Amino acid sequence: MNNRREFLKKSLLGGLALGTGSVAGMAQSYAGAATKKVQSQRARKGKSVMGFRCAPIPEVRAAFIGVARGWGHLTSFANTDGTKIVAICDLRPERIENAQKALKNAGRPEAAVYTGEEDWKKVCERDDIDIIINSTPWELHVPIALYAMKCGKHVATEVPIALSVNDCWALVETAEKTQRHCMMLENCCYDFFELATLNMARKGLFGEIFHGEGAYLHDLRDLKLQKEGYHKMWRLEYSKKHTGDPYPTHGLGPIAQIMNINRGDRIDYLTSMSTKQYGLSLYAEKLYGAGSPEAEFAYKMGDITQTLLHTVNGHSLLVVHDTSSPLPYDRIHKLVGTKGYAIKYPEEKIALEPHPHNFLKSEDFKTLVEQYQHPLTKFIGEKAKAIGGHGGMDYTMIWRLIYCLQNGLPLDQDVYDGVTWSCITELSERSTLNRSASVDVPDFTYGDWKTAKPWPVIDMDTVFS
Ligand SMILES: NC(=O)c1ccc[n+]([C@@H]2O[C@H](COP(=O)([O-])OP(=O)(O)OC[C@H]3O[C@@H](n4cnc5c(N)ncnc54)[C@H](O)[C@@H]3O)[C@@H](O)[C@H]2O)c1
Repeated sequence: MNNRREFLKKSLLGGLALGTGSVAGMAQSYAGAATKKVQSQRARKGKSVMGFRCAPIPEVRAAFIGVARGWGHLTSFANTDGTKIVAICDLRPERIENAQKALKNAGRPEAAVYTGEEDWKKVCERDDIDIIINSTPWELHVPIALYAMKCGKHVATEVPIALSVNDCWALVETAEKTQRHCMMLENCCYDFFELATLNMARKGLFGEIFHGEGAYLHDLRDLKLQKEGYHKMWRLEYSKKHTGDPYPTHGLGPIAQIMNINRGDRIDYLTSMSTKQYGLSLYAEKLYGAGSPEAEFAYKMGDITQTLLHTVNGHSLLVVHDTSSPLPYDRIHKLVGTKGYAIKYPEEKIALEPHPHNFLKSEDFKTLVEQYQHPLTKFIGEKAKAIGGHGGMDYTMIWRLIYCLQNGLPLDQDVYDGVTWSCITELSERSTLNRSASVDVPDFTYGDWKTAKPWPVIDMDTVFS
């Protein structure tokens, strides 16, 4: 028995090392993983960081690890007062050069440079940094975040913050033990219509919102399959080994905030279903030819994954993922309430009682959105649009993060939000591989969701008067 287990272990490791050599072996191992039980609850070891505040940091000193996507965050920091960009870390010289250029354009001095594979550790160990901004490929999110917090730094990490439930727990436990901020940079929560609908929801316009839908529908076939796309083709590599929804947070984050997930309600369980895959193989055929290794590979990631989440208050959320089909960009952002309905894609629309059969006419819609524009958008929206980054939502997010740190305020997205939205990655794969069986979603807040207050509509006028 032991010999057999040893043999299987060796075959699997061999298969993984060879990459394409052992697809069947991999399929077996993932099917096995799907039936292994997820540890949905643990005993708290540290102190809650729900509503956590650190002492105000008048000058926020930041380091940036990974400056492709991270270039945008660095540019946002460089264009905000009360910040210092201390260090940049990336493996590619042209990325470092672009980052230094952005600093120069913003009238900032050059930052210290790190270019080694493990130099992010040296960056985290510096004693002149308050926060690490981590925009590296997915597999590096957790190791860097954990190390940063253990070195006493706050950390903000790109989406998803983690890929596995175990890693989600590790982030929560480390944030609670070290008492550091651990934020996921879910920029879609700061898009203007999302913020406006949050404001409308808080003011009761939709009544009780009992269903929400979000998605990440983005044709990434070219980026995934071009050799000069992602660093070492990390997104394609993930698609070779996994199915389910690896990128749930753009769609889920905004509706989860509006629906008070972790703040009065919590996701109890989910069920998930994936289609087979066509997109990568067909596109690889176009790029590399029929019969090429890229076209022949048995990618595991289904083209469309749909995940239904059920909350303890009896509400539901649908999250959809598709990055391999020829389709227009879409995050859905649908809210269904007892008094009204909103949807963002393909066109922003709202319908309200007493005329729910018709969407508001264009003029009425504009007036309503104007009336309910979120104070944060009113305050920083124009500057955000000018600096850019997905139409302004990126700058709004970074500006607000800096503002909270400078003023010792809790962050809008805490570690519990980041992991609750990200754990869908592993759980959707488990459900998908197990005939869409229902899977428990852990309560990462250890019950704090029952007393935590919903994220309020920040009143910037009051804050600044
Ligand atoms: N929120 C958004 O809208 C958004 C948009 C794009 C990407 N992202 C996220 O940002 C992250 C990065 O995506 P990307 O598109 O920039 O990927 P990318 O592959 O284009 O860039 C990754 C960068 O990380 C660097 N890197 C890799 N290993 C490193 C290491 N050991 N040390 C330092 N640097 C290292 C690479 O050199 C590269 O410059 C991903 O998590 C992705 O999901 C989010």
